[in-house]
Amino acid sequence: MSDTDTPSIDTSIDAETDRATGDTTVVESDELAVYYGDEQALQPTSMEIPEKQVTAIIGPSGCGKSTYLRCINRMNDLIDVARVEGEIRFKGKNVYDEDVDPVALRRKIGMVFQKPNPFPKSIRDNVAYGLKIQGKDDDVDAQVEQALKRAALWDEVKDKLDTSGLDLSGGQQQRLCIARAIAPDPEVILMDEPASALDPVATSQIEDLIEELSRDYTVVIVTHNMQQAARISDKTAVFLTGGELVEFGNTNTIFENPENQRVEDYITGKFG
Ligand SMILES: Nc1ncnc2c1ncn2[C@@H]1O[C@H](COP(=O)(O)OP(=O)(O)OP(=O)(O)O)[C@@H](O)[C@H]1O
Ligand SMILES: [Mg+2]
Repeated sequence: MSDTDTPSIDTSIDAETDRATGDTTVVESDELAVYYGDEQALQPTSMEIPEKQVTAIIGPSGCGKSTYLRCINRMNDLIDVARVEGEIRFKGKNVYDEDVDPVALRRKIGMVFQKPNPFPKSIRDNVAYGLKIQGKDDDVDAQVEQALKRAALWDEVKDKLDTSGLDLSGGQQQRLCIARAIAPDPEVILMDEPASALDPVATSQIEDLIEELSRDYTVVIVTHNMQQAARISDKTAVFLTGGELVEFGNTNTIFENPENQRVEDYITGKFG
């Protein structure tokens, strides 16, 4: 069976729209808990992630941010000792249901990591990689161009598409990884500290790009940088030690008037 024949995740179920806020939930966790062996890394977590907005996940080191993010497209499957309880639904379908193909799921829910990780291939082949696997190889050059434009990298690389992706600067490499993630046309993009290895100029370019991307995609970003979360996100989730989601809401409210005292202490730098 070729990869294009794999059953894709059924997304025919409509996402739910909240009448009060107008937000449409695209990813929803329901008492989602994660263990690594006997250690519980994530307490039961329920959260609704809205479509075409930026949701930031913040909190101190080890509080389960990456663990939560990796559940959304089942990257935790790759960790032998990881065990998941509860549900996490993408457009109403539990991604941990037996009939969900994780490879198909990751096409709908792409991921960008902390350290830029281009393949040791040309810029063109990096972006075309996912397209070829899916058999979407009609007019690959046009699709590569579009993804590079969406990732705000096209003007810098259009004359050197055959040079290695590894020869780009760190910030360019990260935008190349974003182009690679968006080329297969996902709906959700997960980013785990995508700018923490970059200098301030490259960071600001990535931040602008994330805001731009949220017009077309749902973005979930883990960041250690609270100013960054405040600048670019619409919703913020604060996890605190022990893997507990302590508060989730509009970013302005979380930063200006949080309900929870521990969140206020964390935001104002009293700990963490
Ligand atoms: N592969 C793994 N095997 C065992 N334990 C793990 C694994 N990955 C994470 N953990 C543990 O789970 C907890 C949550 O880790 P996680 O990586 O989700 O935290 P985080 O909030 O992303 O931290 P950081 O900000 O440092 O990246 C930690 O106690 C960590 O040691
Ligand atoms: Mg992490």
